[in-house]
Amino acid sequence: MTQGPYRVDGRMARVWVSDAMAGLADRARRDLLASLRERTRCTVWNLTRRPRPDELRAALADQDAILCVLTDRIDAAAIEAGRSLRMISSVSVGVDHIDLEAATRRGIAVANTPGVLVETTAELTLGLLLSVTRRVVEADADVRGGRWTPEARWQISGYLGKDLAGSTLGLVGLGAIGQAVAARARAFGLRILGWSRSGREVSGVERASLAEVLAESDFVSLHLASTPETRQVIDASAFKQMKSGAILINTARGDLVDEEALVEALSSGHLSGAGLDVFAQEPIAPSHPLLSMPSVVLTPHIGSATAGTRLRMVELAVANLEAGLAGRPPLHCVNPEALAR
Ligand code: DGY
Repeated sequence: MTQGPYRVDGRMARVWVSDAMAGLADRARRDLLASLRERTRCTVWNLTRRPRPDELRAALADQDAILCVLTDRIDAAAIEAGRSLRMISSVSVGVDHIDLEAATRRGIAVANTPGVLVETTAELTLGLLLSVTRRVVEADADVRGGRWTPEARWQISGYLGKDLAGSTLGLVGLGAIGQAVAARARAFGLRILGWSRSGREVSGVERASLAEVLAESDFVSLHLASTPETRQVIDASAFKQMKSGAILINTARGDLVDEEALVEALSSGHLSGAGLDVFAQEPIAPSHPLLSMPSVVLTPHIGSATAGTRLRMVELAVANLEAGLAGRPPLHCVNPEALAR
């Protein structure tokens, strides 16, 4: 629902918009920004590089609301600098780039975009699982690199992978994305085990402890939010508990995994592969050992990257922002305590 123009203390509301919305190729998103511009005083960060922390602090100094993405680090200092901030709307479901405690203390509502990216992220999860188990990227590189020669031909023992049918998939986290992965995995004939921090029951998923999921699964897929409690939940000891030859898939957040321990588990052959869309540091350093491992498929945090889903995320984030500016609760507020302030 669009309204406005939005006013704060008798003047037009000021909104800082991350470059997520700038230089938009997509007409619908461009229109969205134009319409926001009519109803707020919008400042768009439109440099191709990210704002440095000091630039971000300066940019937020007189803003009432911001529309940000997950690469905008909205830490306590940025929140402190935004003296008039009342609303942070992120075009993401994850909000680990925002200091929620600092925002809540100041009574600033933080909103996210759950739901609209569920199917898209689940599809990439299956895509990574299939790419790793069937060695798609390695085989593609060989074809392009001229290694599929008449001598190499078709080999009875070439590119042997693992079957999904009859194998066990372990889901760590059974929120909407975990459940959407389970629905797809069932069609592939996988047995599905699942653990969630809340002990949630999901039909078609055998509930198990985390230790059981790790010990019994051929493939382990992570679907948790990044919080202080979940950081490095998959550490050296978790890798030891995993089956020999198991595969790890992560489309959630990089810091759920101890990457050094992952590299060790892959180098020793204990794990036979991994499919990773997210990393402890993004972008991953070009010298990172994971980059030289052919059994690992790496994608650059593209879980929600389809045109339709990105549009829905932006629309939802704008709707959240506008609700906040209109004095209504945002559709998806992750810190409702802030609204009570
Ligand atoms: C999110 O929204 O948190 C995803 O990681 C980006 O699509």
